[in-house]
Amino acid sequence: MDTYCVFGHPIEHSKSPWIHARFAQLTGQTLTYSKTLVPLDGFAKTLQSFQAQGGKGCNVTLPFKNEAAALATHCSPRVSLAQACNTLKFDGQEIFGENTDGLGLVNDLVRNAGCHLQGKSLLLIGAGGAAAGVLGPLLCEKPRQIYVANRTHNKAIQLVKRHAALALAEGVECLAFDLQHEVIHSQSFDVVINASSSSLQQGELPVPASVLSRHGMACDLMYGPASQGFMDWARSNGAEARDGLGMLVEQAAESFQLWRGVRPPTAPVLAELRALLAKS
Ligand code: ATR
Repeated sequence: MDTYCVFGHPIEHSKSPWIHARFAQLTGQTLTYSKTLVPLDGFAKTLQSFQAQGGKGCNVTLPFKNEAAALATHCSPRVSLAQACNTLKFDGQEIFGENTDGLGLVNDLVRNAGCHLQGKSLLLIGAGGAAAGVLGPLLCEKPRQIYVANRTHNKAIQLVKRHAALALAEGVECLAFDLQHEVIHSQSFDVVINASSSSLQQGELPVPASVLSRHGMACDLMYGPASQGFMDWARSNGAEARDGLGMLVEQAAESFQLWRGVRPPTAPVLAELRALLAKS
């Protein structure tokens, strides 16, 4: 039977085995998908051994996404831009690297939430791994502007620089700011995406509520308790709030399609997963 796995540290919380098992049931595919806790200094070795045992592909989560991109023998342009990889597909000795995080976010916003991005103004908060994973696919939706705001200005500058050619090609004004910049304290945006880990640390939200538009979209890439602060803040300021659960299911669907050549249905799986999490 074809075997797949998700590698991370920690990994206990991962919903990916459940999601992929549902995708397999719904598409009539026969496969197994497990999760493996990888020692912090043991990613390359674990990957090699999984591949040698006949593994067909894997997902990679924190903190190994950069290492996965470096280990891929070839990769998509998305991985080159993000410098991170969440999906690997094995073919003999070859390892193809893909990053489905940004595609998952865009699919969730556009298809599931009906939030089209073309011509819109976007604020992306954060410039770490999560932000890097989504900026390319967001640019490809041709919004009017994407402002990347980060606590450490230089990291935002580097991320925007790396995406400058794509932004130009897509006709998007893509600029980097630090969180204290006047623009971030005076402008509102159609769509605000929190890709910083400030929710996870349950810290203060790093931007003023004035960035939100009434009935605009506010999306956190986290889900569960980690996203609650951001969601409450967005709702209480008149925006539509969305967590990262839809993105989680959609990025998994992109990985599944890459491995199996079949597109799984995501809406029922997202609804079931949400109900499951609400019970636990
Ligand atoms: P991830 O892979 O989850 O993105 P990361 O690469 O460590 O994790 O990036 C975390 C992001 O959250 C960064 O943009 C970080 O800002 P810095 O680049 O200045 O470190 C941001 N972040 C973390 N805690 C924050 C806080 N309390 N306020 C604002 N931004 C925060």
